[in-house]
Amino acid sequence: MSGALKNDLLLRALLRQPTPRRPVWLMRQAGRYLPEYRATRARAGNFLAMCTNPQIACEVTLQPIDRYPLDAAILFSDILTIPHAMNLGLEFSTGEGPVFARPVRGAADIDRLGVPDPHGELRYVVDAVSLIRRELAGRVPLIGFAGSPWTVASYMVEGGGSKAFAHIKRMMYEAPRELHRLLDLLARATIAYLNAQIAAGAQAVMLFDTWGGVLTPAQYREFSLHYMAQAVAALIRDADGRRVPNIVFTKGGGAWLGAIAAIGCDAVGVDWTTDLSDARRAVGGRVALQGNLDPAALFAPPAVLRAETLSVLESYGPGTGHVFNLGHGITPEVDPQQVALLVDTVRNYVPAAESSTD
Ligand code: CP3
Repeated sequence: MSGALKNDLLLRALLRQPTPRRPVWLMRQAGRYLPEYRATRARAGNFLAMCTNPQIACEVTLQPIDRYPLDAAILFSDILTIPHAMNLGLEFSTGEGPVFARPVRGAADIDRLGVPDPHGELRYVVDAVSLIRRELAGRVPLIGFAGSPWTVASYMVEGGGSKAFAHIKRMMYEAPRELHRLLDLLARATIAYLNAQIAAGAQAVMLFDTWGGVLTPAQYREFSLHYMAQAVAALIRDADGRRVPNIVFTKGGGAWLGAIAAIGCDAVGVDWTTDLSDARRAVGGRVALQGNLDPAALFAPPAVLRAETLSVLESYGPGTGHVFNLGHGITPEVDPQQVALLVDTVRNYVPAAESSTD
């Protein structure tokens, strides 16, 4: 398809194979903190116009790769492409985040929804994946992604971002079977969508469960983890028959890392509220870990940012299976130079145990 991969550190670390150093990429690495991103967005008009145009999605995906020696590219898109394809009237209003004109509030609304065809309404995503693979020409692997069914449902039911999750929690307590019907539909949509990304060339895939952490432990298992487990179990191999590693990230899921590892995923994303040494104990070597620098550490003075980065690397400890990342997405106010320092610190890191043996 696109020749041999020149840097496969990410894929190896996700499968807990040895690597000469820790791979690093950053959630939301293509975004508003980059002046070149803001310039492209001004030209495209708005965020959705960027996502739905494969040439622009490709250009923006490559921007952080051209600027920094990162070990992975992530498809430029959004977790809300699936509900957008379900015709709920999605708009991204500046400063407000996503808003749905037609939120999903009851059984009749759920009845109207269908699983979008990845080669139909979502074709722009599949086309972007193929184009990005071609343009990357094997420099680094490409990560595809989707939102978790629970997280995507929360935007659909709330009609946008939320703090209290009043509508979806009301549905969960009042009409749990209806919510399960919605989540089951979203799980099927997510599986078709991720598998189409894999078939088009995605070399790893990630599930973003941004809002799983607002649930009780029992609700988390029933309404979020259960559907992520279904998705993980249904992922296909790549065109050459190789396993495509998957990453499951629940923000606020620190207490449930062992349960997440048990669904059969390859790697678990960890936010900054859990120490990686504790996370490692919790998953018992069953999965790789991805994370978990506090995104706000990018606002620290350079020496402090460096120390915080090293402390994340040290807290993982020796051995394979760590992919360095932030504990959540990078924010628009970050100075691009700080990202350069972070990436450089990870790339040059030599574990204390190894440097002291000579
Ligand atoms: O990581 C990457 O670089 C890939 C691109 C990516 C975006 N969104 C681009 C984006 C990814 C992986 C996402 C996932 C996503 N989208 C999540 C889960 C990850 C997370 O952050 O927890 C969620 C919850 C969304 C939904 C979403 N999209 C919201 C709530 C917002 C508005 C908030 C904001 O940051 O403005 C978006 C918009 C969005 N998605 C932007 C980008 C670069 C900003 C759009 C802009 O340019 O104004």
